[in-house]
Amino acid sequence: MPSPHSVEPEPALPATVSEQHRAIREVVARLQRATDLLVVAALLQELDGMLRAHFIEEERPGGLIDAIGSSAAPQHRELARIMVDHRALEVSTKQAMRATQECIEGPVEQVLRLARRLCDEIVSHEQRETQAALAAIAAESVAGTEAPEA
Ligand SMILES: [Fe+2]
Ligand SMILES: [Fe+2]
Repeated sequence: MPSPHSVEPEPALPATVSEQHRAIREVVARLQRATDLLVVAALLQELDGMLRAHFIEEERPGGLIDAIGSSAAPQHRELARIMVDHRALEVSTKQAMRATQECIEGPVEQVLRLARRLCDEIVSHEQRETQAALAAIAAESVAGTEAPEA
């Protein structure tokens, strides 16, 4: 059974740019709803890989960028903006991944460690208590069978 924090791996990036946009929007929508940091980390990692592959596809010779640039009305300013966006989005994704990981390994990990230690302490306390009670019952039982002789 998968861990509640696991995120199913996405299939390989779809072939067409519009299918890739849909797949990216789905991961983005899951990320927007995610509140569990471990899920956020997994989704960011997934998004990082998808974006990298998607940008390579858009920027390849003959790809979307070329198609826009060589159209009847090339939009050079918009193309420059798209390329700047690509690099900025890659950087922002990496920053979000790093910040998420630092949070998981920092306060979240400390809180989880404290909670696990508390659980260990409670379990061993209850075990000691039960053993003491059983020993007391056994002692009572032995004392009861050793009635003084008349
Ligand atoms: Fe795109
Ligand atoms: Fe793009």
